[in-house]
Amino acid sequence: MAKIVVANWKENPQSQKEAEVLFKGTFLLAKFRENTRIIICPPFPYLYLSGKFKNKKVFLGAQNVGKEEGGSYTGEVSPKMLSDMGADFAIVGHGEERLLGETNEIINAKILNLLKFKLSPILCVGESERDKEGNYLSFVEGQVKDCLLAVPKAQMKNIIIAYEPIWAIGANATREATKEEFMEMKIFIKKVISDIYDGKIAHSIPILYGGSVNPANASQFVDGGKADGLLVGRDSLDPKKFGAILNALN
Ligand code: 13P
Repeated sequence: MAKIVVANWKENPQSQKEAEVLFKGTFLLAKFRENTRIIICPPFPYLYLSGKFKNKKVFLGAQNVGKEEGGSYTGEVSPKMLSDMGADFAIVGHGEERLLGETNEIINAKILNLLKFKLSPILCVGESERDKEGNYLSFVEGQVKDCLLAVPKAQMKNIIIAYEPIWAIGANATREATKEEFMEMKIFIKKVISDIYDGKIAHSIPILYGGSVNPANASQFVDGGKADGLLVGRDSLDPKKFGAILNALN
């Protein structure tokens, strides 16, 4: 299976000009990478810029989506708008959105909304701290179950799950996860999926790792932790570093 590497630009860069340079740099990296599927998730205002570059191996994703199909919802963006801009994916349930009050129930509505319009959700899950009693496992189990509520079996092939522990993401991260921590969580999430659906779906669902991924640690998650790919924040803003991450996977 091709590895999936998602570039989550978050609230960056600050101008169209810089975004265009970043798109160009990232698209160039995609050449000659048969075994990697790159998904660029820029802020909404820059989605249109990807149309200037063509490469079948680079996909476009959004960083969020509204939970309604459209209408009187100020500030929201619908799945149809995203797909009209060329996006095939959208991140949902990101830890930074959850911190602002996004609940599993809202994330579930967003996932169902995306699937209805043939977009693939990249569902982020992850605990804010690891307790010795192992409660973080049931916490993540609850996230997976609640966010996938009423998602039909036949739609599961369109779902990607990213394990992003809150303590490992962004500028306030304390550290990245170890490959063992990732591997434990990957197996656990697959068991949860197997309980809800079946072993076949659990086997085939891609589980990515995200949180302080950099050129030096990328291969530990993919080779060591058997991640199906990576969700990269800060180091996706520098094509040199992002390229080095891609190289580490090959
Ligand atoms: P960083 O790679 O900057 O830690 O961000 C991870 C993340 O949140 C990706 O969605």
